[in-house]
Amino acid sequence: MQYTTLGNTDLEVSRICLGTMTFGKQTGEDEASRILDAASSAGVTFIDTADGYPMGMPDLSRAGLTEKVVGRWLKGKRDRFIIATKAGAQMSDDPEDQGGSRKHLLDAIDGSLRRLDTDYVDLYQMHFDDLATPLEETLRALDEIVTSGKARYIGVSNIGAERLAEALAISDRLGLARYVSVQPRYNLIYRDAERDLLPLAKTEHLGVIPYNPLAGGFLTNRYRSSDAPATGRFSAEIGRFATMYRERYWNDSAFRFVERAQRIADNLNVTLTTLAIAWLLSKPAVTAPIVGASKVEQLTDSLKAADVQLDAGILAQLDEL
Ligand SMILES: NC(=O)c1ccc[n+]([C@@H]2O[C@H](COP(=O)([O-])OP(=O)(O)OC[C@H]3O[C@@H](n4cnc5c(N)ncnc54)[C@H](OP(=O)(O)O)[C@@H]3O)[C@@H](O)[C@H]2O)c1
Repeated sequence: MQYTTLGNTDLEVSRICLGTMTFGKQTGEDEASRILDAASSAGVTFIDTADGYPMGMPDLSRAGLTEKVVGRWLKGKRDRFIIATKAGAQMSDDPEDQGGSRKHLLDAIDGSLRRLDTDYVDLYQMHFDDLATPLEETLRALDEIVTSGKARYIGVSNIGAERLAEALAISDRLGLARYVSVQPRYNLIYRDAERDLLPLAKTEHLGVIPYNPLAGGFLTNRYRSSDAPATGRFSAEIGRFATMYRERYWNDSAFRFVERAQRIADNLNVTLTTLAIAWLLSKPAVTAPIVGASKVEQLTDSLKAADVQLDAGILAQLDEL
């Protein structure tokens, strides 16, 4: 495993972060523990979760279950891991119980700490950019959370570069804790972050922790366009999110990409899964891709990427595709 620091913080993190979004729904607690054990044995020290997980529950009654699963596993070893969680998702039928308002965030951090069974998180992230709440209110609330010691640093996910720049400027102007990291969707076939988010992250010395590094499993080359999957990320098993994932990745050009990229992987004698994660690790802007797995054996090829160096010729071939 390789290690680095997250942005300009003093958090030392593994260059592979483990995502937990399936824990409690697609992945039962025993299997989740096996995944966490396997990642930890491979040197992973960085874990990403969120208050709203698991993804794809039919109702809100089980929001928070993933944090509970992670918290139970962490018992007795909390200090060995950098724990990142998120706030903003709807947590109950109360329409106020979501977003970036001060009231919600102060409740949300306490809920996360209770479920994770810890008294602090290392990185507290806005899950998305809440346009309905003034940025200043959100940033002041996050600052209170840092000042109280409940979170060491703050970050943000699913935000555009302009709004991120605005948030950083507000924090600087008011002397508040500023975002230290950004969590964009970023992978071989979805590279929007390269246009302006990654350059901004570089200028501002922010950590970058991409989610969906395998395009939800699409980049493992396990799917065929003619076969509708019965289980997993692109199936009805995860409810309305399956439609979102199919809209994101299930198209002819993505299938063509996978077919061609597989040939590059074959020539390198690695799986496409390993190649896709290694490609993200080759990007200087990227701190740590957040890899996901619903079964422990899925993790092997993602973890192997930490030992694979891609040369300029391979990177050029992938750009070409
Ligand atoms: N901020 C956000 O809005 C946001 C959004 C999404 C994710 N995240 C975070 O990022 C983490 C990772 O995201 P992600 O799960 O979308 O990452 P991903 O790595 O793109 O997809 C993971 C999925 O790919 C499939 N997979 C992985 N390895 C495989 C293998 N070797 N063979 C076959 N299939 C394999 C599995 O799908 P199946 O489960 O279908 O088998 C697995 O659940 C999440 O857990 C979460 O912490 C954040």
